[in-house]
Amino acid sequence: MNYQAILNQIQKDIKPYLGQGKVADYIPALAGIDPIKFGMSIHTVDGIHAHIGDAQENFSIQSISKILTLTMAIAANDAGIWKRVGREPSGSKFNSLIQLELEQGIPRNPFINAGAHVITDIICSHIREPKEAILEFVRMISMNDQIDFDYAVAQSERETGNRNLAMGYFMKSFGNIHNKVREVLDVYFHQCSLSMSCSDLSKAFLYLANEGVIPSSEKAIIPKKASDRINALMLTCGMYDSVGDFAYRVGLPSKSGVGGGIVSIVPGEMSIAVWSPGLSESGNSLAGTKALELFVNYTGKTIF
Ligand code: DON
Repeated sequence: MNYQAILNQIQKDIKPYLGQGKVADYIPALAGIDPIKFGMSIHTVDGIHAHIGDAQENFSIQSISKILTLTMAIAANDAGIWKRVGREPSGSKFNSLIQLELEQGIPRNPFINAGAHVITDIICSHIREPKEAILEFVRMISMNDQIDFDYAVAQSERETGNRNLAMGYFMKSFGNIHNKVREVLDVYFHQCSLSMSCSDLSKAFLYLANEGVIPSSEKAIIPKKASDRINALMLTCGMYDSVGDFAYRVGLPSKSGVGGGIVSIVPGEMSIAVWSPGLSESGNSLAGTKALELFVNYTGKTIF
């Protein structure tokens, strides 16, 4: 299949969708991003790479980082993960507080904000320098030593992230955050601020398309079973309260971020990353979702 030709076609088809939706201005440092940016990149397990548009431009990966920390927590072999975080879609917004009280401080899944706080808390309990470890991990899987936090974005979220802090303290009241809330949230804001391109992201998540192993180096990141399960969680929880519509239209395990990025996995074949900053009500890139839908329509690459 000529993936570059398919991506070139998508770049033409997507034009009417660019600029739709709303840039995530609740994080002030993200408010000024040009809404018509668009990039898309694929890496296959056989070593094929194709990209279009702004695929080499860095953006804030935000909640896509929740796959990194979940992988690290699973790799740390923490036996308690699934006692402290659920595995069900939430049906509510990524930063909703409402279920936490009803469900005794146990977040529905590791991809909503509260669930990601618990996962980051687990990492903080296992790793002495968690921010450095996250950087080291993401640089290793993307084979790019230049990847870094965007400290201005992290600071912006630290100053305005009252809802995240509220969730953290609320879960602490149920005993589900073990470390200091401000320290856990500091790590969380930094992981969200990671600045990466579509090209970096599609390369980084190839291990999820290849049974937990980086194809080019054959380095095992997590066991196959764990990789399958992360894909299952991405399919059922990765796109928040529009996960059903997304599965209907795209049908691939995926994870979005409010920076406008989405990563999708075609198990056994490839990892795809797309970026366009205009978001839906659910916090997912509108043009990014459309581009993935077009990709699946043109290639037939869906898990269904
Ligand atoms: O905590 C937040 O609200 C952001 N740092 C991340 C949220 C996010 O990316 C949700 N994804 N669509």
